[in-house]
Amino acid sequence: MSLPAPHGGTLVSAYNPNYDFSNVKKEMAIDAIAYSDLELIGIGLFSPLTGFLGKTDYESVVESMRLADGTIWSIPVTLPVSREIAEDLKEGDAVKLTFENETVGALEISELYEPDLHKEAREVYKTEELAHPGVKRLFERGEVYVAGTVTLVKKSDKGVASDVWFEPQETRKMFEEKGWKTVVGFQTRNPVHRAHEYIQKAALETVDGLFLNPLVGETKSDDIPADIRLESYRVLLANYYPSERVQLGVYPAAMRYAGPREAIFHAIARKNFGCTHFIVGRDHAGVGNYYGTYDAQYIFSEFTEEELGIKPLFFEHSFYCTACEGMASDKTCPHGKEERVILSGTKVREMLRSGELPPSTFSRKEVVEVLINGLREKATI
Ligand code: ADX
Repeated sequence: MSLPAPHGGTLVSAYNPNYDFSNVKKEMAIDAIAYSDLELIGIGLFSPLTGFLGKTDYESVVESMRLADGTIWSIPVTLPVSREIAEDLKEGDAVKLTFENETVGALEISELYEPDLHKEAREVYKTEELAHPGVKRLFERGEVYVAGTVTLVKKSDKGVASDVWFEPQETRKMFEEKGWKTVVGFQTRNPVHRAHEYIQKAALETVDGLFLNPLVGETKSDDIPADIRLESYRVLLANYYPSERVQLGVYPAAMRYAGPREAIFHAIARKNFGCTHFIVGRDHAGVGNYYGTYDAQYIFSEFTEEELGIKPLFFEHSFYCTACEGMASDKTCPHGKEERVILSGTKVREMLRSGELPPSTFSRKEVVEVLINGLREKATI
């Protein structure tokens, strides 16, 4: 096996810090999610996208999880604006994109269109309820979509992630230099607890390397902040993982909470990073009870592995079993509920925020210490 070709065939590169703005008259401020999308298009993580989706591609993605040319693509990457802002824009305009008053990119507008947000919510998120964080954001961000090719002019400030922020061309080179022919990507928006560690290591038993690739873009406000998580990953890797088999690197995208559709999207981005395999456990990218426990695994059967170009590795809900005295899942453990250490994400976050220690059978003590201290510090700032 060798590293997969980027999705769509070639790695997109749309970064130009010397972009010539001399004839660009219009300017538009974008939000953190749009900046993240712009940057990930620019560095090729969203290959083959070269810009924000036009209407035909958008509708095709919403309806059939494919771009108009047939390429698999499950989440619309769009640039929403309000009607007032849209009134000042037109097809053919070149626009300077700014974020927090700095120039970050350029957009050549190919089209402006009004999406059917209700349909997008139903198809992509499987609900129109505003209690769903992805749907809430969808309805808040704007009624008009601006489509067009983008150029990334300024890369984002990497902060505490600067040593683990890699572009796909860098990870690909890195995997090759390590001699890894098979690499499994792991998405998470949480600290790595024992269940995550278990499925990562189970996967690592069969491949050459593990790419621990936590999402550090926008998440919902009660998720653990990315800087604290990063510290927890570092301490976990230093103590419990063989350094020559694991690479930490961030996935700087916004979380969509779109469950099954996002699992496909996550897999494609990891393929662009150069991963050959991708872990999908229970309720991947889910939130609340919007998706069935294994829906994000079932959705992969809608595509062939050849077409997707990355192999999903599925894992059952895992837990520590006191009778087995080890990590297990329904597949490997015959014991009942009373023997299983299962805590919901919400419960764990509550415990950590109140300084209560989750058991070491749920999370490594080094990880728990980092999380409690980090959250305590944030609370006092
Ligand atoms: S996610 O939103 O990024 O998917 P999370 O960080 O909880 O959330 O999950 C990361 C990955 O681990 C996902 O593939 C998820 O399905 C898997 N996962 C999380 N907890 C478990 C568990 N207890 N058993 C099996 N898989 C799990």
